[in-house]
Amino acid sequence: MLSYLPPLCRSCLFVILALATSLTQASEIKRGKELYNTYCADCHGATGISVMQDAPNFAKNESLVKSDFELYDAISKGNNAMPLYQGILSDQEILDVITFIRTLN
Ligand code: HEC
Repeated sequence: MLSYLPPLCRSCLFVILALATSLTQASEIKRGKELYNTYCADCHGATGISVMQDAPNFAKNESLVKSDFELYDAISKGNNAMPLYQGILSDQEILDVITFIRTLN
């Protein structure tokens, strides 16, 4: 259907799409930040510089090389001193937190 539109309209559509995507991302980051400050900052630090021994330092990109899937798994299941968030945060909330911690490095 896109190919029937004149070229100018087509680029308009892409601009609108890009704008909508970045707005969605902005609200995910905002929600993720609030959750992070509530649940994670005590150990991982408000700016990602960890304040607890053994907690990865997100400001130094520690652990962030992992995929969203691996991070999701780590956050929902916990490990050693890292608490588990399954049943505390919803799937969407965990994804929002991941989107936010990816802005800390
Ligand atoms: C009580 C302190 C504490 C809190 C609160 C905490 N963490 Fe952690 N976190 C840790 C520690 C310690 C580790 C390292 C665990 C290990 O592997 O031994 C860790 C590891 C991680 C990792 C790395 C997992 C990996 O596989 O590399 C991620 C991602 C993470 N935490 C995210 C979060 C998020 C998001 C929150 C809030 C929802 C949170 N943490 C809350 C202490 C904490």
